[in-house]
Amino acid sequence: MTFELKGLVNLDDRKRMDELINFIKIQLDDESDKLALMSNISAFIMGSIRDLNWAGFYFYKEDELILGPFQGLPACTRLSLDKGVCAKAFCNKKTIKVDDVHEFTDHIACDSQSESELVLPLFNEEKVYGVLDLDSPIKNRFTDIELEGFTKIAKLIEEKIYEEF
Ligand code: SME
Repeated sequence: MTFELKGLVNLDDRKRMDELINFIKIQLDDESDKLALMSNISAFIMGSIRDLNWAGFYFYKEDELILGPFQGLPACTRLSLDKGVCAKAFCNKKTIKVDDVHEFTDHIACDSQSESELVLPLFNEEKVYGVLDLDSPIKNRFTDIELEGFTKIAKLIEEKIYEEF
């Protein structure tokens, strides 16, 4: 597969999301290795969606969320379940959109550039096994386009990757 980042530059956010979903579907059909898939999915996200400074995964292990494949600056390797946006999305089993991370009491700033954040839990049936985390250097970055699009992407990932990392 060839990923043409240049071709996305002039597309609007909805078309970029459609392209991203297509890339991810093809990748999920082509590859079965979880580490390879998660690594490329985080790279596809960063290459397709505008104004992100971090995109990646945390997986539940040893009663914490442990860093998985990602794109962006080095991040906290372990997140405890009592603090932060990722832990809240994981524990409540709900997607969380934070329009201004400075307003979120115990937001964990792995990258000081982050201004808004979207975190989606990943499920194996009822059991949540990790999160997909997206950060933006712009406040209010995540709209219904990203909410709907990343919800679809989380479902696609869950169909293929349904166990702990
Ligand atoms: N901001 C997250 C921590 C992970 S980094 O953003 C990569 C949180 O509050 O849980």
